[in-house]
Amino acid sequence: MGKSMVRYKKLGYVDLNVSDLSRSRHFYENIVGLEYVGQGPEGAILLRCSDDPYNVALRQAAEPGHKRTGWMLESPAQFDVLASQLRAHDTPFEVLSKGECSERGLLNAIRIVEPNTGAVVEFYINNPPDGHYGFNATLAKIVRLGHVVYATPKFNEAVAFYRDVLNFAESDSIEGTFTFMRCWPNPFHHGVGIGRGEKNVYHHTNFMVSEIDDIGSAIHRLNRAGAPIVYGPGRHPASGSAFLYFLDPDGLTCEYSFGMEQFTEAFPRAPRTLPRKPEAADFWGSPQDPRMAKIGAIETYTIAGT
Ligand SMILES: [Fe+2]
Repeated sequence: MGKSMVRYKKLGYVDLNVSDLSRSRHFYENIVGLEYVGQGPEGAILLRCSDDPYNVALRQAAEPGHKRTGWMLESPAQFDVLASQLRAHDTPFEVLSKGECSERGLLNAIRIVEPNTGAVVEFYINNPPDGHYGFNATLAKIVRLGHVVYATPKFNEAVAFYRDVLNFAESDSIEGTFTFMRCWPNPFHHGVGIGRGEKNVYHHTNFMVSEIDDIGSAIHRLNRAGAPIVYGPGRHPASGSAFLYFLDPDGLTCEYSFGMEQFTEAFPRAPRTLPRKPEAADFWGSPQDPRMAKIGAIETYTIAGT
């Protein structure tokens, strides 16, 4: 019997823990260019950068970092496909309550803890599934939450989990240090990146912009705001994306990127392994600030009944 593949629509949201909610709201709204949506559960600040109930939630917490990431399934039928994959791989999951779903604009959602990074990962459908919420780009012409990246000592195991359990597809790797994966059959080169790290850390949050001017103007806007630019401008050989990495007020790393390779669902090119050298990360050779991706605690969680 052939196994059915879980089908995803896209990366939908990331909830970030921040140490000063109003300071971070100002930054993500007025410097990054996300749109304020309203308040979510437990005082969370909901923001969007595309046609979704929300794409980023900011939550007051002692330690800045990652609270959870949400992947939108292609259709409600995919819950069953995913659940059987999770059961087959002994991965516990819980179903979110109706109350929590409705407060967050979701119709249904399930939650796991990715066993290697320890990150909470959710899978969901919007309420209504094909609803349109609009987004008015102001500062930067952001089109979507692009990707999330985690670093972990269990690099190989985490890549295997996303590939074998969640049915993500490998697009490229940098030998032994990074693997970029797409939430199949979403065409974009990567929705998640897994890096090798000495400890588990949430590495960065990416926002995709629609004009190269969004990268250039961000340099000056970030400089005026005193926000450290920690890598770039540059261009990633793996994905072809022009990039700019910078720090939020807690030191969490964010990225704007412009342009990205897209894959077809059928007959995609084979994944490549790029050699491990600085030119594999940036055609333009920009230096990396040591503060990049240093802050980003991954909040732990216990799935009910485990
Ligand atoms: Fe990135």
